[in-house]
Amino acid sequence: MSESSVSDLQRDLQWVPKASSIAREAGARLREFFTAGVATEYKGDVDIVTVADRTVEKLVRTRLAEAFPDHGVYGEEGTRDRMEGPFRWYVDPLDGTTNFAHGFPQFCVSLGLEQRPADLKSGQDGTLVAGVIYDPMRDELFTAERGHGAWLNGRPMHVSRTPDLAESLLATGFPSKKRHDSPNIHFYHEFTLRSHGVRRAGSAALDLAYVAAGRLEAFWEFNLNPWDTAAGILLVEEAGGKVTDFAGGHFQLNSNEILSSNGLIQDELIVLFRNMFAGRELTPIPTAQQFAELRAARAAVIG
Ligand code: IPD
Ligand code: CA
Ligand code: CA
Repeated sequence: MSESSVSDLQRDLQWVPKASSIAREAGARLREFFTAGVATEYKGDVDIVTVADRTVEKLVRTRLAEAFPDHGVYGEEGTRDRMEGPFRWYVDPLDGTTNFAHGFPQFCVSLGLEQRPADLKSGQDGTLVAGVIYDPMRDELFTAERGHGAWLNGRPMHVSRTPDLAESLLATGFPSKKRHDSPNIHFYHEFTLRSHGVRRAGSAALDLAYVAAGRLEAFWEFNLNPWDTAAGILLVEEAGGKVTDFAGGHFQLNSNEILSSNGLIQDELIVLFRNMFAGRELTPIPTAQQFAELRAARAAVIG
């Protein structure tokens, strides 16, 4: 892209400039809390929340209302403002709370903007039009507006050109609620065997930003919420990638499943999901007991 077309695309941005400064301010607060250390509270079994999640959601809510008074805000920590408005921000004030609470520096703030026509029903999706994800520990700001491309710290960002799963680096995550119902360990295992590896870094929004930046070829997860995915989906799409459900169908914000990639390996992933859901292509995993028996047998041979 030429220098002039890059600056044209950036000049016409409607929402990203203000949302970026809100994300930077929120990120600075997260960094302060991270340095000071915070106590951990439980929303559920292992579902953690901290004072940082609540304080930063409050800050983002206030700033969004100042910057965009007619926009709605739908936040993970309970904010539901102006839900009937023509625009709605999905806010995750701290994506990666478990990391944050343990001092593991992989987390971010995520703001995704959806445009919602007046005749849209409450459960229906509008169009994602802007996304901002900020990683305060690396000072990395990932931004996108529909039709204007995706950017990392103001430079154009693109998905990777890797054409097959065998040469790909992937990411996924595991839920903190109803953990026993999740089948994802089977997918984790199978994808690990068929790729360069699967990372489980603990922030779905950053995982999506990394697909957009070409650092990962794909990301999938079961049971995410709109605040986890809204911004990252637009980043991936504007960076040239693809986002669908596990069957290759149209992604919906409340569909609870996301499959995103550089686009080139999307079909290969969809076929693998289809086969695995049908009980095919599952490589057996030795049980711990089988492994222990083999280990004992080998030790007996060595003497
Ligand atoms: C979590 C993170 C994690 C994902 C979980 C999410 P939170 O969000 O995105 O990577 O695996 O499913 O709930 O709770 O840290 O905002
Ligand atoms: Ca989250
Ligand atoms: Ca969160």
